[in-house]
Amino acid sequence: LGRSVKLFDEVDSTQNIAQKLAEEGAPEGTLILAERQLSGRGRMGRSWLSPKGRGVWMSMILRPTIPLPYTPQLTLLTAVALCRALRRLTGLEIGIKWPNDLLIDGRKISGILLESSAEEERLRHVIVGVGISVNLDKQHYTEDMLDRVISLKMAAGITFDRSEIIAGFLAEFEAVYTLYEQEGFAPVRSLWEALSVSLHKPCKLTTPQGIMEGIPVGLADSGALLLKLEDGDTVPVFSAEMG
Ligand code: BTN
Repeated sequence: LGRSVKLFDEVDSTQNIAQKLAEEGAPEGTLILAERQLSGRGRMGRSWLSPKGRGVWMSMILRPTIPLPYTPQLTLLTAVALCRALRRLTGLEIGIKWPNDLLIDGRKISGILLESSAEEERLRHVIVGVGISVNLDKQHYTEDMLDRVISLKMAAGITFDRSEIIAGFLAEFEAVYTLYEQEGFAPVRSLWEALSVSLHKPCKLTTPQGIMEGIPVGLADSGALLLKLEDGDTVPVFSAEMG
């Protein structure tokens, strides 16, 4: 993975470049990096702040041979790899908020966006987008963002080498992805559960079907969040925003 790396100075979104290269047949592991994104994308149609030279804005092409419904497992896997790499490199107490935000003290430092392309129920390729707010300063954010987000530099008080972070993530991703290919989702699920800050705390989820309240107790095999409801039933939640 990451053997073919394409570095751009400025792009609209690394996701778009990766998408195009994947369609042209670029191999698994191709990595697209940009110094700056003009229209970085987040989940749920949000935009992603990507100022020049301050963060890691990257997209990786994967060609996994897994059934389409298992795709969310790759999001969780990416969060595990990134969390492990960033903890090791920064020494910061970083946790995973379901499904795949990385937080320090409740503030987001990194987000993951998976976009897949499928044909007749078969997965063709997956683009794993990772944004890490590495060396952003307070002035990069708007006032209202500062309650919700933070950079590694703001949290640790030192500047980080972005290439070390990329290399650290790739090494960790390769290890966890190999584990997943060889042993399936179960070991990844245990790693995710150990790093999660979302489990065993009452929460409110905004799902496409409406608001659900309960206590997250773990992950299902599919990668869905297992939510224990007030009536004692436990249900899988596939997609939601955690408030
Ligand atoms: C989220 O938390 O909402 C996901 C954010 C993902 C941002 C990354 S930055 C690199 C890649 N290119 C994009 O346009 N988005 C992802």
